[in-house]
Amino acid sequence: MKITVFGAGYVGLVVSAFFSENGHDVVCVEKNKEKVESLKRGRVPIYEPGLEEMVLKSLSKGTLEFVVEGAEAVKKAEIIFICVGTPSNQEGSADLTAVWEVLDEISQNLNGYKVIVLKGTVPVGTGDAALAYLKEKAKVDFDVVSNPEFLREGSSLYDFTNPSRLIIGAQSERAIEVMKKVYAVQLEKGVPALLTDRKSAELIKYASNTFLALKISFVNSLARLCEAFKANVEDVKRGLGLDPRIGPNFLNPGPGFGGSCLPKDVRALTKTCEEANVPFPLLKAIIDSNSLQKEFVVQKLKKILGGFRGKRIGVWGLAFKAGTDDVRESPAIDILERILIEGEEINIRAYDPHAMENSRKVLPEVEYVSNPYLACEEVDILLILTEWKEFREVDFSRAKEMMSSPRIFDTRNILPRNELESLGFSYFGLGRAK
Ligand code: UGA
Repeated sequence: MKITVFGAGYVGLVVSAFFSENGHDVVCVEKNKEKVESLKRGRVPIYEPGLEEMVLKSLSKGTLEFVVEGAEAVKKAEIIFICVGTPSNQEGSADLTAVWEVLDEISQNLNGYKVIVLKGTVPVGTGDAALAYLKEKAKVDFDVVSNPEFLREGSSLYDFTNPSRLIIGAQSERAIEVMKKVYAVQLEKGVPALLTDRKSAELIKYASNTFLALKISFVNSLARLCEAFKANVEDVKRGLGLDPRIGPNFLNPGPGFGGSCLPKDVRALTKTCEEANVPFPLLKAIIDSNSLQKEFVVQKLKKILGGFRGKRIGVWGLAFKAGTDDVRESPAIDILERILIEGEEINIRAYDPHAMENSRKVLPEVEYVSNPYLACEEVDILLILTEWKEFREVDFSRAKEMMSSPRIFDTRNILPRNELESLGFSYFGLGRAK
Protein backbone atom coordinates (compact mmCIF):
# COMPACT_ATOMS: atom_id res chain seq x y z
CA MET A 1 0.00 0.00 0.00
CA LYS A 2 1.05 3.59 -0.39
CA ILE A 3 1.43 4.98 3.10
CA THR A 4 2.25 8.49 4.24
CA VAL A 5 3.33 9.13 7.80
CA PHE A 6 3.41 12.60 9.32
CA GLY A 7 6.02 13.00 12.05
CA ALA A 8 9.40 11.36 12.54
CA GLY A 9 9.34 11.08 16.33
CA TYR A 10 9.24 7.72 18.12
CA VAL A 11 5.83 6.75 16.83
CA GLY A 12 6.25 8.06 13.28
CA LEU A 13 9.62 6.40 12.83
CA VAL A 14 8.46 3.05 14.15
CA VAL A 15 5.32 3.14 11.99
CA SER A 16 7.39 4.12 8.94
CA ALA A 17 10.09 1.53 9.58
CA PHE A 18 7.65 -1.31 10.19
CA PHE A 19 5.44 -0.70 7.16
CA SER A 20 8.35 -0.06 4.78
CA GLU A 21 10.02 -3.25 6.01
CA ASN A 22 6.78 -5.15 5.38
CA GLY A 23 6.36 -4.45 1.71
CA HIS A 24 4.59 -1.08 1.73
CA ASP A 25 5.76 2.14 0.10
CA VAL A 26 6.22 4.69 2.83
CA VAL A 27 6.85 8.42 2.74
CA CYS A 28 7.58 9.99 6.13
CA VAL A 29 6.96 13.74 6.27
CA GLU A 30 8.89 15.70 8.89
CA LYS A 31 9.03 19.49 9.14
CA ASN A 32 12.47 19.56 10.77
CA LYS A 33 14.85 19.82 7.79
CA GLU A 34 17.97 18.82 9.73
CA LYS A 35 16.23 15.72 11.00
CA VAL A 36 15.16 14.80 7.47
CA GLU A 37 18.72 15.24 6.17
CA SER A 38 20.09 13.02 8.89
CA LEU A 39 17.34 10.41 8.41
CA LYS A 40 18.00 10.31 4.67
CA ARG A 41 21.53 9.21 5.53
CA GLY A 42 20.09 6.53 7.79
CA ARG A 43 20.92 8.30 11.04
CA VAL A 44 18.10 7.91 13.52
CA PRO A 45 18.27 10.71 16.12
CA ILE A 46 16.90 8.62 19.00
CA TYR A 47 18.14 5.49 20.72
CA GLU A 48 15.58 2.78 20.05
CA PRO A 49 16.81 -0.81 19.73
CA GLY A 50 16.65 -2.10 16.14
CA LEU A 51 15.16 1.06 14.66
CA GLU A 52 18.20 2.45 12.87
CA GLU A 53 18.94 -0.92 11.27
CA MET A 54 15.36 -1.21 10.01
CA VAL A 55 15.35 2.34 8.64
CA LEU A 56 18.65 1.74 6.85
CA LYS A 57 17.34 -1.47 5.30
CA SER A 58 14.20 0.19 3.98
CA LEU A 59 16.14 3.18 2.68
CA SER A 60 18.41 0.91 0.71
CA LYS A 61 15.47 -1.14 -0.61
CA GLY A 62 13.85 2.15 -1.65
CA THR A 63 10.61 1.50 0.27
CA LEU A 64 11.11 4.42 2.65
CA GLU A 65 11.58 8.07 1.88
CA PHE A 66 11.90 11.10 4.16
CA VAL A 67 10.61 14.47 2.95
CA VAL A 68 9.91 17.92 4.36
CA GLU A 69 6.93 18.87 2.21
CA GLY A 70 3.75 16.87 2.59
CA ALA A 71 1.70 17.87 -0.48
CA GLU A 72 2.88 15.17 -2.91
CA ALA A 73 2.96 12.56 -0.17
CA VAL A 74 -0.70 13.26 0.65
CA LYS A 75 -1.74 13.07 -3.00
CA LYS A 76 -0.21 9.67 -3.61
CA ALA A 77 -1.20 8.06 -0.28
CA GLU A 78 -3.94 5.49 0.24
CA ILE A 79 -3.59 5.80 3.98
CA ILE A 80 -2.13 8.64 6.05
CA PHE A 81 -0.89 8.19 9.61
CA ILE A 82 -0.72 11.33 11.73
CA CYS A 83 2.02 10.70 14.27
CA VAL A 84 3.05 14.22 15.24
CA GLY A 85 3.53 15.09 18.91
CA THR A 86 0.79 16.29 21.24
CA PRO A 87 2.82 17.76 24.11
CA SER A 88 1.30 19.31 27.22
CA ASN A 89 0.61 23.00 27.03
CA GLN A 90 0.80 25.23 30.08
CA GLU A 91 -2.57 24.33 31.56
CA GLY A 92 -1.88 20.62 31.08
CA SER A 93 -4.15 19.98 28.11
CA ALA A 94 -2.77 18.45 24.90
CA ASP A 95 -1.32 20.95 22.46
CA LEU A 96 -2.79 19.96 19.11
CA THR A 97 -1.06 22.62 17.00
CA ALA A 98 1.00 20.10 15.05
CA VAL A 99 -2.05 17.87 14.43
CA TRP A 100 -4.06 20.76 13.02
CA GLU A 101 -1.17 21.86 10.81
CA VAL A 102 -1.06 18.38 9.32
CA LEU A 103 -4.84 18.27 8.88
CA ASP A 104 -4.64 21.58 7.09
CA GLU A 105 -1.96 20.28 4.75
CA ILE A 106 -4.04 17.15 4.10
CA SER A 107 -7.17 19.21 3.42
CA GLN A 108 -5.39 21.13 0.69
CA ASN A 109 -4.18 18.02 -1.08
CA LEU A 110 -6.97 15.48 -0.82
CA ASN A 111 -7.42 14.16 -4.34
CA GLY A 112 -9.32 10.91 -3.86
CA TYR A 113 -10.43 8.42 -1.21
CA LYS A 114 -7.93 8.07 1.63
CA VAL A 115 -8.03 6.88 5.20
CA ILE A 116 -6.62 9.44 7.61
CA VAL A 117 -5.47 7.81 10.80
CA LEU A 118 -4.92 9.65 14.07
CA LYS A 119 -2.20 7.58 15.68
CA GLY A 120 -0.91 9.97 18.31
CA THR A 121 -2.64 10.50 21.64
CA VAL A 122 -5.38 13.06 21.12
CA PRO A 123 -8.21 14.16 23.42
CA VAL A 124 -11.63 12.62 23.03
CA GLY A 125 -13.51 14.32 20.21
CA THR A 126 -10.42 15.22 18.14
CA GLY A 127 -11.19 12.63 15.46
CA ASP A 128 -14.74 13.91 15.05
CA ALA A 129 -13.47 17.49 14.92
CA ALA A 130 -10.90 16.49 12.29
CA LEU A 131 -13.60 14.84 10.19
CA ALA A 132 -15.81 17.92 10.37
CA TYR A 133 -12.90 20.20 9.47
CA LEU A 134 -11.84 18.12 6.47
CA LYS A 135 -15.44 17.70 5.28
CA GLU A 136 -15.80 21.45 5.16
CA LYS A 137 -12.68 21.79 3.00
CA ALA A 138 -12.46 18.70 0.83
CA LYS A 139 -14.60 17.72 -2.12
CA VAL A 140 -13.67 14.05 -2.18
CA ASP A 141 -14.64 11.09 -0.05
CA PHE A 142 -12.34 10.11 2.84
CA ASP A 143 -12.45 8.59 6.31
CA VAL A 144 -10.93 9.55 9.64
CA VAL A 145 -9.91 6.70 11.94
CA SER A 146 -8.69 6.86 15.51
CA ASN A 147 -6.05 4.19 15.99
CA PRO A 148 -4.04 4.94 19.14
CA GLU A 149 -0.69 3.30 19.65
CA PHE A 150 0.56 1.51 22.77
CA LEU A 151 4.28 1.43 22.03
CA ARG A 152 6.73 1.54 24.90
CA GLU A 153 9.97 3.37 24.35
CA GLY A 154 12.82 0.90 24.33
CA SER A 155 10.70 -1.88 22.84
CA SER A 156 8.71 0.03 20.23
CA LEU A 157 9.46 -2.24 17.29
CA TYR A 158 8.55 -5.35 19.22
CA ASP A 159 5.37 -3.68 20.47
CA PHE A 160 4.33 -2.56 17.01
CA THR A 161 4.84 -6.03 15.59
CA ASN A 162 3.25 -7.81 18.57
CA PRO A 163 0.72 -5.40 20.05
CA SER A 164 -1.56 -6.52 22.86
CA ARG A 165 -4.47 -5.20 20.80
CA LEU A 166 -5.37 -3.03 17.82
CA ILE A 167 -7.90 -0.35 18.60
CA ILE A 168 -9.71 0.83 15.51
CA GLY A 169 -12.10 3.71 15.95
CA ALA A 170 -13.77 3.86 12.57
CA GLN A 171 -17.26 4.52 11.39
CA SER A 172 -17.20 3.12 7.86
CA GLU A 173 -16.78 -0.40 6.46
CA ARG A 174 -14.48 0.93 3.77
CA ALA A 175 -12.08 2.40 6.34
CA ILE A 176 -12.18 -0.79 8.42
CA GLU A 177 -11.19 -2.83 5.33
CA VAL A 178 -8.20 -0.52 4.70
CA MET A 179 -7.13 -0.81 8.34
CA LYS A 180 -7.37 -4.61 8.20
CA LYS A 181 -5.22 -4.61 5.09
CA VAL A 182 -2.52 -2.40 6.55
CA TYR A 183 -2.38 -4.43 9.80
CA ALA A 184 -2.49 -7.80 8.02
CA VAL A 185 0.77 -8.97 9.65
CA GLN A 186 -0.52 -8.34 13.16
CA LEU A 187 -3.99 -9.75 12.45
CA GLU A 188 -2.55 -12.94 10.96
CA LYS A 189 -0.70 -13.47 14.23
CA GLY A 190 -4.02 -13.38 16.05
CA VAL A 191 -3.66 -9.94 17.61
CA PRO A 192 -7.15 -8.96 18.81
CA ALA A 193 -8.71 -6.00 17.05
CA LEU A 194 -11.35 -3.95 18.80
CA LEU A 195 -13.61 -2.07 16.44
CA THR A 196 -15.23 0.90 18.05
CA ASP A 197 -16.21 4.52 17.49
CA ARG A 198 -13.57 7.24 17.32
CA LYS A 199 -14.30 8.79 20.71
CA SER A 200 -14.12 5.49 22.54
CA ALA A 201 -10.83 4.68 20.79
CA GLU A 202 -9.41 8.02 21.92
CA LEU A 203 -10.53 7.37 25.48
CA ILE A 204 -9.08 3.86 25.50
CA LYS A 205 -5.63 5.37 25.02
CA TYR A 206 -6.01 7.83 27.90
CA ALA A 207 -7.63 5.18 30.08
CA SER A 208 -4.70 2.82 29.45
CA ASN A 209 -1.92 5.27 30.23
CA THR A 210 -3.75 6.68 33.22
CA PHE A 211 -4.40 3.23 34.61
CA LEU A 212 -0.72 2.33 34.24
CA ALA A 213 0.21 5.54 36.06
CA LEU A 214 -2.31 4.65 38.75
CA LYS A 215 -0.72 1.24 39.26
CA ILE A 216 2.70 2.81 39.70
CA SER A 217 1.47 5.50 42.08
CA PHE A 218 -0.37 2.82 44.03
CA VAL A 219 2.67 0.59 44.44
CA ASN A 220 4.88 3.57 45.26
CA SER A 221 2.46 4.61 47.99
CA LEU A 222 2.62 1.04 49.29
CA ALA A 223 6.41 1.28 49.27
CA ARG A 224 6.23 4.34 51.50
CA LEU A 225 3.81 2.55 53.80
CA CYS A 226 6.08 -0.51 53.90
CA GLU A 227 8.98 1.67 55.01
CA ALA A 228 6.91 3.09 57.84
CA PHE A 229 6.07 -0.42 59.08
CA LYS A 230 9.35 -2.12 58.13
CA ALA A 231 7.48 -4.41 55.74
CA ASN A 232 8.77 -5.49 52.34
CA VAL A 233 7.07 -3.97 49.29
CA GLU A 234 8.60 -6.58 47.01
CA ASP A 235 6.64 -9.27 48.85
CA VAL A 236 3.52 -7.12 49.12
CA LYS A 237 3.69 -6.48 45.38
CA ARG A 238 4.07 -10.19 44.66
CA GLY A 239 1.18 -11.09 46.91
CA LEU A 240 -0.95 -8.44 45.29
CA GLY A 241 -0.05 -9.43 41.74
CA LEU A 242 -0.86 -13.10 42.31
CA ASP A 243 -4.53 -12.17 42.32
CA PRO A 244 -5.41 -12.66 38.64
CA ARG A 245 -7.86 -9.79 38.88
CA ILE A 246 -4.94 -7.48 39.66
CA GLY A 247 -2.04 -9.07 37.80
CA PRO A 248 1.71 -8.83 38.44
CA ASN A 249 2.77 -6.37 35.74
CA PHE A 250 3.60 -2.71 36.13
CA LEU A 251 3.84 -2.93 39.88
CA ASN A 252 7.53 -2.17 40.30
CA PRO A 253 8.16 0.52 42.87
CA GLY A 254 10.58 3.22 41.83
CA PRO A 255 11.35 6.92 41.92
CA GLY A 256 8.02 7.78 40.23
CA PHE A 257 6.79 7.46 36.67
CA GLY A 258 8.10 9.74 33.95
CA GLY A 259 8.58 9.92 30.21
CA SER A 260 6.83 11.78 27.47
CA CYS A 261 3.51 9.96 27.83
CA LEU A 262 2.22 8.92 31.24
CA PRO A 263 2.60 12.30 33.03
CA LYS A 264 1.33 14.23 30.01
CA ASP A 265 -1.67 11.97 29.49
CA VAL A 266 -2.77 12.05 33.13
CA ARG A 267 -2.65 15.85 32.97
CA ALA A 268 -4.54 15.96 29.67
CA LEU A 269 -7.28 13.64 30.92
CA THR A 270 -7.58 15.80 34.04
CA LYS A 271 -8.14 18.78 31.77
CA THR A 272 -10.68 16.90 29.67
CA CYS A 273 -12.62 15.99 32.83
CA GLU A 274 -12.54 19.58 34.04
CA GLU A 275 -13.84 20.82 30.71
CA ALA A 276 -16.57 18.19 30.66
CA ASN A 277 -17.41 18.90 34.30
CA VAL A 278 -16.90 15.25 35.21
CA PRO A 279 -15.27 14.73 38.62
CA PHE A 280 -12.40 12.19 38.47
CA PRO A 281 -10.51 12.80 41.73
CA LEU A 282 -8.21 9.81 41.21
CA LEU A 283 -6.35 11.70 38.51
CA LYS A 284 -5.14 14.41 40.87
CA ALA A 285 -4.17 11.74 43.38
CA ILE A 286 -2.01 9.99 40.75
CA ILE A 287 -0.16 13.22 39.95
CA ASP A 288 0.26 14.25 43.60
CA SER A 289 1.43 10.82 44.61
CA ASN A 290 4.02 10.80 41.83
CA SER A 291 5.43 14.12 42.94
CA LEU A 292 5.45 12.93 46.54
CA GLN A 293 7.43 9.86 45.57
CA LYS A 294 10.24 11.93 44.07
CA GLU A 295 10.35 14.08 47.21
CA PHE A 296 10.32 10.94 49.33
CA VAL A 297 13.45 9.70 47.53
CA VAL A 298 15.18 13.04 48.06
CA GLN A 299 14.32 13.18 51.78
CA LYS A 300 15.33 9.59 52.34
CA LEU A 301 18.67 10.23 50.66
CA LYS A 302 19.16 13.35 52.78
CA LYS A 303 18.46 11.36 55.92
CA ILE A 304 20.92 8.60 54.96
CA LEU A 305 23.58 11.21 54.25
CA GLY A 306 22.82 13.29 57.33
CA GLY A 307 22.24 16.37 55.16
CA PHE A 308 23.34 17.31 51.67
CA ARG A 309 25.83 20.06 52.37
CA GLY A 310 29.24 19.32 50.87
CA LYS A 311 28.25 15.80 49.86
CA ARG A 312 29.47 13.94 46.81
CA ILE A 313 26.80 11.76 45.21
CA GLY A 314 27.33 9.14 42.52
CA VAL A 315 24.37 8.50 40.23
CA TRP A 316 23.64 5.58 37.94
CA GLY A 317 20.73 6.19 35.58
CA LEU A 318 19.29 9.34 34.08
CA ALA A 319 16.82 8.07 31.47
CA PHE A 320 13.17 7.94 32.57
CA LYS A 321 13.42 4.17 32.30
CA ALA A 322 15.85 1.58 30.95
CA GLY A 323 16.17 1.00 27.21
CA THR A 324 15.95 4.61 26.10
CA ASP A 325 18.00 7.81 25.92
CA ASP A 326 14.88 9.86 26.68
CA VAL A 327 15.00 12.13 29.73
CA ARG A 328 11.66 13.86 29.22
CA GLU A 329 10.02 14.19 32.64
CA SER A 330 12.57 11.68 33.90
CA PRO A 331 12.22 11.17 37.65
CA ALA A 332 16.03 10.98 37.75
CA ILE A 333 16.41 14.51 36.42
CA ASP A 334 13.67 15.81 38.70
CA ILE A 335 15.27 14.19 41.76
CA LEU A 336 18.73 15.55 40.93
CA GLU A 337 17.27 19.03 40.46
CA ARG A 338 15.58 18.79 43.86
CA ILE A 339 18.85 17.66 45.49
CA LEU A 340 20.75 20.55 43.93
CA ILE A 341 18.12 23.01 45.16
CA GLU A 342 18.12 21.52 48.67
CA GLY A 343 21.78 21.55 49.50
CA GLU A 344 24.95 23.60 49.05
CA GLU A 345 28.32 22.49 47.70
CA ILE A 346 26.91 19.25 46.40
CA ASN A 347 28.86 17.40 43.80
CA ILE A 348 26.95 14.96 41.58
CA ARG A 349 28.79 12.54 39.29
CA ALA A 350 26.40 10.75 36.96
CA TYR A 351 26.52 7.91 34.48
CA ASP A 352 23.90 6.53 32.11
CA PRO A 353 24.61 4.15 29.21
CA HIS A 354 22.57 6.19 26.71
CA ALA A 355 20.99 9.29 28.21
CA MET A 356 23.97 11.49 29.12
CA GLU A 357 23.86 13.65 26.02
CA ASN A 358 20.21 14.50 26.60
CA SER A 359 20.73 14.97 30.35
CA ARG A 360 23.59 17.39 29.81
CA LYS A 361 21.21 19.69 27.91
CA VAL A 362 18.73 19.92 30.79
CA LEU A 363 21.04 19.49 33.78
CA PRO A 364 24.45 21.00 33.05
CA GLU A 365 25.31 21.33 36.78
CA VAL A 366 26.07 17.63 37.00
CA GLU A 367 29.44 16.07 36.17
CA TYR A 368 28.93 13.34 33.56
CA VAL A 369 31.35 10.43 33.52
CA SER A 370 31.98 7.78 30.92
CA ASN A 371 31.55 4.61 32.98
CA PRO A 372 29.77 3.43 36.13
CA TYR A 373 33.01 3.14 38.13
CA LEU A 374 33.95 6.77 37.59
CA ALA A 375 30.56 7.75 39.02
CA CYS A 376 31.66 6.05 42.26
CA GLU A 377 34.89 8.02 42.67
CA GLU A 378 35.08 9.27 46.25
CA VAL A 379 31.33 9.52 46.63
CA ASP A 380 29.43 9.43 49.91
CA ILE A 381 26.69 7.32 48.35
CA LEU A 382 25.70 5.73 45.07
CA LEU A 383 22.14 6.49 43.97
CA ILE A 384 20.47 4.19 41.41
CA LEU A 385 17.69 5.94 39.50
CA THR A 386 17.15 3.92 36.29
CA GLU A 387 16.83 0.14 36.07
CA TRP A 388 19.48 -0.57 33.40
CA LYS A 389 20.35 -4.29 33.37
CA GLU A 390 24.06 -3.51 32.99
CA PHE A 391 24.13 -2.03 36.51
CA ARG A 392 23.72 -5.56 37.84
CA GLU A 393 26.82 -6.67 36.00
CA VAL A 394 29.21 -4.16 37.56
CA ASP A 395 32.13 -5.42 39.65
CA PHE A 396 30.94 -4.09 42.99
CA SER A 397 34.22 -4.81 44.80
CA ARG A 398 35.91 -2.46 42.36
CA ALA A 399 33.12 0.12 42.71
CA LYS A 400 33.42 -0.08 46.53
CA GLU A 401 37.14 0.60 46.46
CA MET A 402 36.47 3.86 44.66
CA MET A 403 33.83 5.14 47.08
CA SER A 404 34.50 7.20 50.20
CA SER A 405 31.60 5.54 51.89
CA PRO A 406 30.22 2.21 50.60
CA ARG A 407 26.54 3.08 50.60
CA ILE A 408 23.98 2.38 47.88
CA PHE A 409 20.46 3.74 47.62
CA ASP A 410 18.77 1.64 44.97
CA THR A 411 15.47 3.37 44.16
CA ARG A 412 14.58 0.63 41.65
CA ASN A 413 15.28 -2.35 43.92
CA ILE A 414 17.31 -3.98 41.16
CA LEU A 415 20.58 -4.85 42.87
CA PRO A 416 21.29 -8.04 44.88
CA ARG A 417 21.03 -6.74 48.41
CA ASN A 418 22.51 -9.76 50.23
CA GLU A 419 25.52 -9.92 47.94
CA LEU A 420 26.18 -6.21 48.37
CA GLU A 421 25.82 -6.40 52.13
CA SER A 422 28.26 -9.30 52.27
CA LEU A 423 30.73 -7.14 50.33
CA GLY A 424 30.43 -4.53 53.07
CA PHE A 425 27.97 -2.11 51.48
CA SER A 426 25.18 -0.44 53.38
CA TYR A 427 22.26 -1.07 51.07
CA PHE A 428 19.08 1.00 51.05
CA GLY A 429 16.22 -0.01 48.79
CA LEU A 430 12.73 1.36 48.43
CA GLY A 431 9.99 -0.01 50.66
CA ARG A 432 12.34 -2.65 52.01
CA ALA A 433 12.62 -1.86 55.68
CA LYS A 434 15.93 0.00 55.58
C1 UGA B 1 3.84 4.40 27.93
C2 UGA B 1 2.89 3.19 27.85
O1 UGA B 1 3.41 2.12 28.63
C3 UGA B 1 2.70 2.73 26.41
O2 UGA B 1 1.76 1.68 26.35
C4 UGA B 1 2.21 3.91 25.58
O3 UGA B 1 2.08 3.56 24.20
C5 UGA B 1 3.21 5.06 25.68
O4 UGA B 1 3.36 5.43 27.06
C6 UGA B 1 2.68 6.22 24.87
O5 UGA B 1 1.63 6.74 25.21
O6 UGA B 1 3.27 6.54 23.84
P1 UGA B 1 6.49 4.68 27.88
O7 UGA B 1 6.28 6.14 28.05
O8 UGA B 1 7.48 4.20 26.89
O9 UGA B 1 5.12 3.94 27.50
O10 UGA B 1 6.94 4.15 29.31
P2 UGA B 1 6.45 3.02 30.33
O11 UGA B 1 7.10 1.75 30.05
O12 UGA B 1 4.99 3.04 30.46
O13 UGA B 1 7.07 3.62 31.69
C7 UGA B 1 6.63 4.88 32.17
C8 UGA B 1 7.27 5.19 33.51
O14 UGA B 1 6.79 4.34 34.52
C9 UGA B 1 8.78 5.05 33.55
O15 UGA B 1 9.32 6.14 34.24
C10 UGA B 1 9.02 3.75 34.26
O16 UGA B 1 10.24 3.66 34.91
C11 UGA B 1 7.88 3.78 35.25
N1 UGA B 1 7.48 2.43 35.74
C12 UGA B 1 6.97 1.50 34.89
C13 UGA B 1 7.59 2.13 37.10
O17 UGA B 1 8.06 2.96 37.91
N2 UGA B 1 7.19 0.90 37.54
C14 UGA B 1 6.67 -0.03 36.70
O18 UGA B 1 6.32 -1.13 37.17
C15 UGA B 1 6.58 0.27 35.34
